[in-house]
Amino acid sequence: MKMKITGTGSALPRKVVTNTQLTEWMDTSDEWIRERTGIAERHLSTGETVASLAAEACRKALEQAGKTAEEVDMILLATCSPEYLLPCCACQVQQEIGAVNAVAFDINAACSGFLFGLTTANAYIQSGMYRNILIVGSEVLSKLMDWEDRSTCILFGDGAGAVLAEAVEDGESGLVDSVQRSDGSKGMVLSCRERMISNPLYKEAAERTNQESFYVQMDGQAVYRFATRQVPACIREVLEKTGLTVEDIDLFVLHQANVRIIEAVAKRLGADIGKFPMNLDRVGNMSSATIPVLLDELNREGRLHSGDRLVLSGFGAGLTYGSCILIW
Ligand code: ACO
Repeated sequence: MKMKITGTGSALPRKVVTNTQLTEWMDTSDEWIRERTGIAERHLSTGETVASLAAEACRKALEQAGKTAEEVDMILLATCSPEYLLPCCACQVQQEIGAVNAVAFDINAACSGFLFGLTTANAYIQSGMYRNILIVGSEVLSKLMDWEDRSTCILFGDGAGAVLAEAVEDGESGLVDSVQRSDGSKGMVLSCRERMISNPLYKEAAERTNQESFYVQMDGQAVYRFATRQVPACIREVLEKTGLTVEDIDLFVLHQANVRIIEAVAKRLGADIGKFPMNLDRVGNMSSATIPVLLDELNREGRLHSGDRLVLSGFGAGLTYGSCILIW
């Protein structure tokens, strides 16, 4: 059995915020943000939640695949910004869309979450355990931002993307192979705290950390160095595993963190930058949602053709990163 994507969907909050609008909130400029990141605007939630955006994206993916919610066996939802620690967001989505027969749980691997979800779904499908799996990346990162930290908050946006992956007979199309990596030793270059241990026996850490920030903290240059080194190496590794070359790939669908990272990856691979579609100018970095939202845009614009060879590559907090090859 192979895993094939048969439907895609996405959902973005209604409110668009341009770089120029950000200058009303902080000391920045459209020019600085565009030059350093490639981002011109992003969608920010004015009430949309991780669960509501994810549910909308799932409904669209199911509609395109011609499947009902009852036919879904599993929902894997990647997020690092859920509204609730429990229940998991995947269960909220299950309830919202009526996927009564699905098992549902969340995956947190930050910006690699969707890619790790896809490979997890692939393992379930190859084992024969499930046939129809929704994989979703959904984030409302704006609530994790310190809106006074201009070097971080300008990068991120809110949104969700989903795919319906089905079991198909072995053939040309589907997920071919993948490489996944984690490096916890560098975890603190991109982090966001949750509550610390606090119980009648132990309050010290909570009292100490309550003085610290509960917003996203990032060492931007360390993230840049990590991404520009590890992502091309990881893509080369998956290409070597499958006997393909950079020239054999039609599109490289990368996590949309920053235009300079994507350009550096293309350069290090010796690949044509025209093969790296981008939408981050319009949506910013939506962590786990970037790859499925971009896939959905490409799919609906008719830019994905049967037999096309795609590399998907995610990278982010953890640190985590991975790449896979999909034949569309
Ligand atoms: N507007 C204007 N000036 C700013 C802004 C802003 N929004 N933010 C920072 N600055 C200023 C700083 O204060 C500093 O000023 P100074 O020289 O007077 O002290 C100057 O710009 C340079 O600041 P740096 O932080 O050194 O800026 P840098 O060139 O590193 O760019 C950036 C910051 C864009 C975050 C860069 O490090 C980067 O691209 N890193 C990659 C990080 C990334 O993409 N993360 C995404 C999340 S992780 C992921 O998805 C994988």
